[in-house]
Amino acid sequence: VFPDLPIGNNHIRPRRLRINENIRSLVQENKLQKTDLILPLFISEKGTKRFDIESLPGVYRTPYDDLINEIDGIKKLGIHAIMLFPVIDISRKDLLGTEAYNPDGLIQNSIRKIKETFPDMIIFVDVALDPYTTHGHDGIINEKGYVLNDETVEVLCKQSLSYAACGVDFVCPSDMMDGRIAAIRTTLDTEGYTGTGILAYSAKYASAFYGPFREAISSGARSLDKKTYQLNPANSREAVREAILDIQEGADMVMVKPGLPYLDIVTRIKSESEVPVVIYQVSGEYAMLKCAAQNNLIDEKAAVLESLLSMKRAGADLIVTYYAKWICENIL
Ligand code: PBG
Repeated sequence: VFPDLPIGNNHIRPRRLRINENIRSLVQENKLQKTDLILPLFISEKGTKRFDIESLPGVYRTPYDDLINEIDGIKKLGIHAIMLFPVIDISRKDLLGTEAYNPDGLIQNSIRKIKETFPDMIIFVDVALDPYTTHGHDGIINEKGYVLNDETVEVLCKQSLSYAACGVDFVCPSDMMDGRIAAIRTTLDTEGYTGTGILAYSAKYASAFYGPFREAISSGARSLDKKTYQLNPANSREAVREAILDIQEGADMVMVKPGLPYLDIVTRIKSESEVPVVIYQVSGEYAMLKCAAQNNLIDEKAAVLESLLSMKRAGADLIVTYYAKWICENIL
């Protein structure tokens, strides 16, 4: 701007915009709001008491019988969106995940129950078979343990339809099968559920950060290998390809997951598409922050806020986080 100024002539002092908190907040580019947050909720079939999840300190399973009470508390905190995950008894799991589309299943009943009392609570539901299969994979496997694509997509369509019939707002396929968005969209439309949305987990990486989640829903080993369907952490171009395919197939929003290690993916997908981009701060990320905070190694409020603002800066429109309630109680 002033090319002729000699070095040391400090007309330009960017620090003027950082002098005090009020000036800093005037020029702050990204802000975190309650409407940015989606809270994941683990629902268990049995009991009446909250069940603590050891791998996720501060997070618990809500028993079905206490669901309305729990949602009431969540609403009062100012959270408008939740994402449901079932904890299914082993006796109802099988090789084919048939419980996923049981019209009287835990998630189906939960959606109906929540919508009856809180019709404006936005419900997202994960669509994949891992909570319902004995092996913990997201789809149907052959004798070699390979997840079969088209056979799985058929079941995912049944599962999505079953949730749509209960009044879910968005189904969220997290399985990474090819062609599932088009198949699910067609199924929903054919059955008259044109208003049910799809949030596609488009860029879901084969990540080591899902360990605590698998413990939370008791779905197989922490380190279960899902590399034949989830993305290679070393790649970015296939993530963009997946997102574009999902949008072409009819996804209303796309997701990047995990969060912090994949901010570059958020930025790329955001710039190469026109739909809202959602980021998932996954269980391992939450656990890292919590454990460091519990050991007084970091300032939890500052570290959580910094992580989520970084996600917004990268271009995320919405953030799925186990911290949602805590943030509303402690930060916002
Ligand atoms: C299931 C699913 C997983 C997560 C969300 N949906 C686990 C997996 O793919 O193994 C992980 C979420 C988290 O770690 O918080 N398809």
